[in-house]
Amino acid sequence: MEGKRGTWNSNFGFIMAAVGSAVGLGNIWGFPYKMGSSGGFAFLLIYLILAVLIGFVVMMGELVMGRRSGRGAVGAYAKLASRKFRWVGWMGVLSAFLIMSFYSVLGGYCLKYMVVNLGDMLGMSFGSNGLNGGDMFTLLLKNQVECVVYTLIIMVIGAAIVMGGISGGIERFSKYAMPALFILLIVVIIRSVTLDGAMKGLEFMFAPNFEPFEKDFISVLSLAGGQMFFSLSLGMGIMITYGSYLPRRENIQRNALVVIFADTVASILSGMAVIPAAFALGGDGAAMAGPKLLYVTLHNVFNSMGDIGPFIGMLFYLLVVIATVTSVISLIEVITTFFMDHAENHGKTGNRRLITLFVSLAIMALATLVAADGLGTNGVWMPFQAFGVSGWNDCWLSFMDMLSEGVMMPLGALLMCLFISYEWGVDRVVTEVERCGDRFVGRQFFSLCFKVIAPLGMVFILWGQLKGFGLV
Ligand code: PFF
Repeated sequence: MEGKRGTWNSNFGFIMAAVGSAVGLGNIWGFPYKMGSSGGFAFLLIYLILAVLIGFVVMMGELVMGRRSGRGAVGAYAKLASRKFRWVGWMGVLSAFLIMSFYSVLGGYCLKYMVVNLGDMLGMSFGSNGLNGGDMFTLLLKNQVECVVYTLIIMVIGAAIVMGGISGGIERFSKYAMPALFILLIVVIIRSVTLDGAMKGLEFMFAPNFEPFEKDFISVLSLAGGQMFFSLSLGMGIMITYGSYLPRRENIQRNALVVIFADTVASILSGMAVIPAAFALGGDGAAMAGPKLLYVTLHNVFNSMGDIGPFIGMLFYLLVVIATVTSVISLIEVITTFFMDHAENHGKTGNRRLITLFVSLAIMALATLVAADGLGTNGVWMPFQAFGVSGWNDCWLSFMDMLSEGVMMPLGALLMCLFISYEWGVDRVVTEVERCGDRFVGRQFFSLCFKVIAPLGMVFILWGQLKGFGLV
């Protein structure tokens, strides 16, 4: 069965693809800022504890469900779960679809910035032409055609890779892209931390600061938890899907640990690339928040670096584009696998190229709406604003983000844990992991995590997300 469905060629390839999915915009702009503004090293510690107690458990659960069933998100629940939980897989496919609608738009902006830096490097007219980051971003958002075109380019690149299949497309691309990304990160870090005044940035990120904890420990916890879910690509069936292509001989427990470790390292390295530079060139806490960091502050940083600026800027946005594309392909794959499985259930072999084409076209339609909206700049019709503008309905991007990241991801992960703990059984997870021939390490501990710690933690994270979006 595995042969027909496709499988990863090597464990290294699988890890690069899974790390590729995990490392993305969430690491590069979300983590450094949240870490710096919410306690520095203390936040990192909380993040790590949550990653081990909750992230590790959810990731293993997803990989096990995928490999055991040999199916993607929907198919895995259909095969393993009773009626009560069967619908959970659908939520994964739906949230992948919703996330793609805005993630591709943000990736499109990065591509535009890469092109602008290239233009500046070559002294061509498609450079920034002396505009500062703020003006450039405003102009870009107002240019609906440009936003849509860059979004579609990201989608076309992602779709082309997914069309190549699991080992021939996703694995082949990730195997080179991820090491390249880490090398580019190191180059940018070297420039960033050697700027005058960079130390202030490193202090912002790493110095333990317990003030945010004293004010609102609960918010810090749920901020770290929400970040962890998004960053590790959990709760939407990606790891179920990737696990379904994983051969029996591979050790799921070890692989989950490696992916989490690599993703966390990528977040810290991204912070070291971004924050010291922003500080050295006059940024402050506010300049690091939200979209401003990537599309305003950093552009100004590269602008003020002199001759080498556009080159470093081009490298930086190239690495962000790579990170985005490897995440995009995992999201397209979740939906593609769903249709491939559907065909297989009916005794047919799905036409991967055709399926990917239709999936991508559907995503493009929704992404076009988000791109044209320009973070609310262009007044595109937004019916939910009638409820009074709050965190979730100020623009289409926020709305899609709220539905997926805010509700469906943590809810999906919570339900998965409940399904495994109270219906399917943690013992089956252990058995599936041990099929590789190695022993499952820390059985009692993980059982406790699955049954109590992770579900409780997730209720809490879900609540924090809803609160963050102004829904409760
Ligand atoms: N993990 C990616 C990031 O941190 O940017 C984003 C992401 C990819 C989220 C895939 C969710 C997902 F399913």
